[in-house]
Amino acid sequence: ALVVTLPSTRADFPPPAQLPTRPGLPDPTVMLDGTRVGSKADWEAKRRPELKALFEHYMYGRRPADPAKVTAKVLFSDDKAFDGKGTLTEVELTVGGPEWPKVYLLVARPNTSAPVGCFVGPNFGGNHLLTTDERVRIPSAWVPKNYPGVVNEKATAAGRGKQAETWPLGEIVARGYAVATFYCGDIQPDRPDVKEGVRAVAPGTGGPADTATIMWWAWGVSRAVDYLVTATGIDARRLAVVGHSRLGKTALLAGAFDPRLAVVIPNQAGCGGSGPSRHSDPKAEPVERINKAFPHWFNGHFKQFGSDPSKLPFDQNGLVALCAPRPVLFTNAADDLWANPSGQFEVLRAATPAYKLYGVDGITAAAMPGHNQLVASRLGYWIRPGKHAMTPPDWKTYMDFADVWLK
Ligand code: GCU
Repeated sequence: ALVVTLPSTRADFPPPAQLPTRPGLPDPTVMLDGTRVGSKADWEAKRRPELKALFEHYMYGRRPADPAKVTAKVLFSDDKAFDGKGTLTEVELTVGGPEWPKVYLLVARPNTSAPVGCFVGPNFGGNHLLTTDERVRIPSAWVPKNYPGVVNEKATAAGRGKQAETWPLGEIVARGYAVATFYCGDIQPDRPDVKEGVRAVAPGTGGPADTATIMWWAWGVSRAVDYLVTATGIDARRLAVVGHSRLGKTALLAGAFDPRLAVVIPNQAGCGGSGPSRHSDPKAEPVERINKAFPHWFNGHFKQFGSDPSKLPFDQNGLVALCAPRPVLFTNAADDLWANPSGQFEVLRAATPAYKLYGVDGITAAAMPGHNQLVASRLGYWIRPGKHAMTPPDWKTYMDFADVWLK
């Protein structure tokens, strides 16, 4: 299960400073040299690989190769969970060599005879925060100190079940879906110091296009998918990736690079995810600021776009375009202007040309909907009142959208 990070520079891509200014969200169906792609065949053969390479080179870093094999060890599995209506399982995934960190995937599913659709994504503080079940493992990796039960940056049993509303396992199972999640820090702890996690052991290439943490988290989602496509009771063709905020950026990137994810749902992901890099909204997060506050999330090249994001040869509508023709839903909260809800709506509008190449609609709404009104077109949008958080009403919306596109 050797993982090799691919060469990190593309000689044919100019240094950031030499890129021309491109005002407005660039059309994702126009090649770097200005040629417009007019067919699905050219999109898939030419522009999609180029666009992926551009995102790797200038923003997230090279996507590491897939491991030859991912193995799963069942830690426990209980088919009498959720009042006897579901099964709760935790598996330990081996995603690399012996020195690599393990990934612990918590899977909840209904006890139905037919395989079901499944939500998958990383969580912020550990699987144990999502249920009081004492069999669920407590992370041994570094965890942020502001999470429940954390002592000296280590998770403890005092946190059990304290964030159950962020991934409401029972409600998801009751609606006939499975759900699978892992602690993002199993892959890479969320701090600039990368002398831990996969970044400490993976053979990297160094340099300004080296694999950054959000790319590693997205790679981790694909490792969970490696397991889920073989797992009992789960329909491999109906996987939806979900994540909140920095992990919503991760969800969108995972969806863009892994076509096994049939539906993509970044929740309040904002700058570096579902929000445009080009914006002049003083309340929304700028590229310059995200690069300073979270230097490990993006690669070295991206740091050079802080003063002028209009030099980027793409914007985040390109990341959505890479998901085409699969459904993508952006969910937002009205008070969370930092994540730029209105800019996100424009990102969906500007991703639509790639969907047209498949002969399908992107987003059908011409203007942002009112609160709690789900736009359930293939590129979907939703905004609720309230603050930055992933809550049960958000989950109800993901499932309403999944009912449309995954049934
Ligand atoms: C910060 C950061 C955002 C990020 C958010 C989160 O606010 O600036 O980009 O989305 O944290 O992950 O909650």
